Amino acid sequence: MIEIKSLYKTFDQVQVLNGLNLSVKDGETKVIIGRSGAGKSVLLKAIVGIIRPDSGSIRINGVEVVGLPDIQYDAVRKNIGLVFQGGALFDSLNVGENVGFVLDEFSRMKASEKRERVAHALSLVGLKKIENMMPSQLSGGMKKRVSLARALCMEPKILLYDEPTSEVDPITADAVDNLIVEMSRKLKVTSIVVTHDMNVAYKVADSIAMFYHGQVIADGTPQEIRSSRHPVVHQFINGASEGPITEDESMKFGHIK
Ligand SMILES: Nc1ncnc2c1ncn2[C@@H]1O[C@H](COP(=O)(O)OP(=O)(O)OP(=O)(O)O)[C@@H](O)[C@H]1O
Ligand SMILES: [Mg+2]
Repeated sequence: MIEIKSLYKTFDQVQVLNGLNLSVKDGETKVIIGRSGAGKSVLLKAIVGIIRPDSGSIRINGVEVVGLPDIQYDAVRKNIGLVFQGGALFDSLNVGENVGFVLDEFSRMKASEKRERVAHALSLVGLKKIENMMPSQLSGGMKKRVSLARALCMEPKILLYDEPTSEVDPITADAVDNLIVEMSRKLKVTSIVVTHDMNVAYKVADSIAMFYHGQVIADGTPQEIRSSRHPVVHQFINGASEGPITEDESMKFGHIK
């Protein structure tokens, strides 16, 4: 469903994606782990075309999107829901408008039908009757869930979640995990979930890929990753400060050419 080959992206001096390869099968839930600044969010944005890669290939359901003009990209994009790390809600729109605006953009739905779809998407993430609230009136976790509802609203074939459970309380986090699993099972959605939380990773993943220095250094089933002998993977999933990943590196963010 998603086939990424030799993807490169540099910002100024920083090489963020360094020949990255990743493949996500139809209906699969792929979890991506890796340190802060490893390029996880950049990859998700590259898949939806918000960030354009320098070179390489991204094929989505057989369509090459690297270099695809925006007009044609829209046809691909409407099948992809992205839950942004920070929520990325429009401050001047209320919750209902924030969730429903994708419907205006990509479909011609009747107002009543749209209201229903928005309410349904909000109820999926455990929120009811908050359509008229403004983003400034929401807690961090509520914003996250509104952003999730917006991604679900289009009923996309592909869902990309960027840290869906950060900033939410443990009970909501568990509900979000269940939702991810449910979307995958019931609706056969193909998903990529970026998370720092290994509990989430083990719970929702069919497979887990680890990013390091702009590449995927390990990709396998949760069991394979858990028992990996790769020193970087081992250190990361056990959260150890001793190992090949150094503090110095965390200050550097990315990989200087
Ligand atoms: N639009 C941009 N312009 C310049 N640099 C950027 C841009 N977006 C990301 N970067 C840089 O790319 C690198 C990777 O960023 P990214 O947001 O993908 O990290 P991440 O793996 O998602 O980290 P985190 O776990 O903290 O969310 C960072 O060094 C960041 O500063
Ligand atoms: Mg990120």
